[in-house]
Amino acid sequence: MSAPQGYSATQIVLHWLVAGLILFQLVFGEAMSTAWRAVRRDMAPDMTLAVWAHIIAGIAVLVFALWRLQLRATRGAPDAPADTALMMAAATWGHRALYAVMLLTPITGLLAWYGGVVEAGEVHEWFKPVIIVLVAGHVLAALYHQFIRKDGLLVRMKRPLD
Ligand code: HEM
Ligand code: HEM
Repeated sequence: MSAPQGYSATQIVLHWLVAGLILFQLVFGEAMSTAWRAVRRDMAPDMTLAVWAHIIAGIAVLVFALWRLQLRATRGAPDAPADTALMMAAATWGHRALYAVMLLTPITGLLAWYGGVVEAGEVHEWFKPVIIVLVAGHVLAALYHQFIRKDGLLVRMKRPLD
């Protein structure tokens, strides 16, 4: 299968939807930690709207990430516009790591909340700084392409090519 020249409309919508949902989770995640502390003290958690929003948004990220991987496998994704083997490896492994956290963060959250696996809750918490570092690197790479390399890479995540 030869690589397409751009992303499809569905791939682009899913990319920005997941980015928004992850940002929401990072900003409002504290409510879930409060509920989790209650569970760990054998108390009934206060099931506020923020708690439900965390669970639903997190499951949505998992479903959308699986959908994106399925689209990547069937339709494909454009090749990275990298000059060197090092840049190519950074793009490939950076994107793989982002997919890994998109899957493992909700899975560990679900294992903790519904499965009572305390260790999974700890791993879930560690993912917070990991996601911040990965997304910061990803955004810096996008800005590097936009303003230094000036290759219009951001347009690939804006304009669909179905
Ligand atoms: C939580 C936030 C984000 C996540 C998890 C994420 C994840 C990803 C992943 C996994 C890819 C590769 C898609 C594929 O080829 O299958 C990608 C591509 C891309 N992302 Fe993000 N992204 C996020 C936020 C952003 C932001 C804020 C920007 C803009 C500054 C951005 C700009 C791009 C661009 C331009 C591409 C296309 C790269 C290419 O064509 O090679 N992303 N993103
Ligand atoms: C991509 C999806 C998700 C992201 C980015 C995310 C992010 C976060 C963040 C930032 C916190 C707060 C950590 C802190 O206060 O330091 C948190 C806590 C928590 N989340 Fe999620 N979450 C996601 C999905 C889920 C799902 C689907 C569940 C399942 C119900 C869940 C269950 C929990 C639990 C139980 C805690 C408390 C863990 C603890 O404090 O040790 N999360 N999450």
